[in-house]
Amino acid sequence: MAENTAQRRFPPYERHVFICMNERPPDNPRGDCTSRGAGAVLERFKQLVDQLKLKPRIRAQKSGCLDTCELGVSVVVYPEAVWYKQVKPEDVDEIVQSHLVNGIPVERLRMHPAAPGDSARVKPIGSA
Ligand code: FES
Repeated sequence: MAENTAQRRFPPYERHVFICMNERPPDNPRGDCTSRGAGAVLERFKQLVDQLKLKPRIRAQKSGCLDTCELGVSVVVYPEAVWYKQVKPEDVDEIVQSHLVNGIPVERLRMHPAAPGDSARVKPIGSA
C-alpha cells in the first residue's frame, strides 16, 4: 500500500546528496563535471546507498551545475551544506561511510574548511 503524504517524514531524507552532472562544450574554459567523471561518481553513490540499505534515509541524485565547475566533480550534502571538490569514484566509499553514515565530513575533500559550529550540525543517521 502506498504511503500517503501525511504519513511521510519531513524532511524525507536525513541526508540528501547532489552530484553535478552538468555538461558543456569541450572548448568551454570552465569545463564541466560530467567530463571529469561525474557519471561514475553518481553511479557509485547510488550503488552504495542500495548496498548499504540506506534508502529512504539517504538519497543521492544528479544535479545541474552547482557553479563550482573548476573544482568538479562537485558534490554537496544537505542538511549540513558540506561541499566536496574533485570527487573521484574511489572517494565515494569514504564519503558514504564517514559522512553519510557516521556524520563525520571528509575534510581532505571539502571545498571550504569546517567553520566553527559545523561539528554540532552533523550526527550519525538514525540518531535524530
Ligand atoms: S559543471 Fe559541475 S559545478 Fe558546474
